[in-house]
Amino acid sequence: MIKNQTIIYLNNAATTWPKPPEVLKAARQSLDLPIFGSGRTTGSQGEDYITLAREAVAGLLAADPPEHVIFTQNATDSLNLLIQGFFAGCETGCHVLTTALDHNSVLRPLYELERQGRIRLTVLPFEEGVVHPDTVEAAITPDTRIMVMTHGSNVLGSVQDVSRIGEILRDHGVYFMVDGAQTAGHIPVNLQALPVDAYVFTGHKGLLGIPGTGGFYIRHPEPIAPTRYGGTGTDSFSLFQPLDMPERFEVGTHNYPGLAALAAGVNFIMSTGVPAIAEKAERQTAFLIRELEEEPNITIHNEHPALPIISFNIQGIENDDVGFILARAYGVIARTGLHCAPLVHRVIDGGAGSVRLSLSWFTTDEECRIAARAVREIAKNAYSQVSSS
Ligand SMILES: Cc1ncc(COP(=O)(O)O)c(C=O)c1O
Repeated sequence: MIKNQTIIYLNNAATTWPKPPEVLKAARQSLDLPIFGSGRTTGSQGEDYITLAREAVAGLLAADPPEHVIFTQNATDSLNLLIQGFFAGCETGCHVLTTALDHNSVLRPLYELERQGRIRLTVLPFEEGVVHPDTVEAAITPDTRIMVMTHGSNVLGSVQDVSRIGEILRDHGVYFMVDGAQTAGHIPVNLQALPVDAYVFTGHKGLLGIPGTGGFYIRHPEPIAPTRYGGTGTDSFSLFQPLDMPERFEVGTHNYPGLAALAAGVNFIMSTGVPAIAEKAERQTAFLIRELEEEPNITIHNEHPALPIISFNIQGIENDDVGFILARAYGVIARTGLHCAPLVHRVIDGGAGSVRLSLSWFTTDEECRIAARAVREIAKNAYSQVSSS
């Protein structure tokens, strides 16, 4: 077992670690007093963590009004809620667009609807990590109702031009859902300026919160029917789900320690500054790529990522073995395999999967140097074994 102090954690695209001390403190403090929030208690002596988190996320993403920021368990939960809620009101056979860059949290809900015969699905290809806006426009048909696409690829670290794509979709009356699991907290996101109808985020990645939180901003909730029903602390005489925001989509007791932590994570990001976070990530990612490019048997799949994510294979050694050696011999925690985005891998590595290193604000330059040296040593050993056999 590797002790904490020897871990170089480069699996931040899965879940960021460590968390800022403020985040851990907020989660702990939120449990010191009973929950205080509108409609559910007579007490008002403490913080209303849910409102604090809603306002913090709305501030970071320029999401207006804050009541249109909805909290869920994570990005996957949000995408299921949005996709299923949209199709609750859609006649059978609507056309849906998504992309080969997308995560299973988008693909699986859509493929399930396709299997049930409820939608016709088109998966758009990408080139050099990007789905071209022209490709989107060419795929729209008169019955296209919705497009669901990732903002940032969790394998290639590429960021999609959701601004241009959103304009095209708006011109054609197509509802646009964007999966921002990899972009929120990493790059500036201004939802007042972006022509998207719904933007999904998760709490435990770039927003530096703890697992079990996430959500979405929704500009126009009307096309999304509630698919969960229950107590909201409001309009309780009504035996039907209130359609006000956020009660339309938020039912039951919130994960308030998680939301207290999320508010602290978002406040940490705002005080650090997203441009500063992005600039450091870009510098460290470029360093790692330059280092890995020195070895002839390393294939890097994304030489110019916009997010701190590097995917590669080493010729002469399996991905899982690279991951094992990195962890056991060097304390470098990476991720190997398909990264829950199987269609990307069909294109970049023939379905073999990749080794992925992903950074966070807390990754140090020294950790990058050690990780680069470790990967290069593994590649050199593999190379010498291949060339001597
Ligand atoms: C692009 C993308 N979308 C969605 C998800 C799912 O996020 P969550 O684990 O918060 O549901 C991930 C997580 O890896 C992701 O990278």
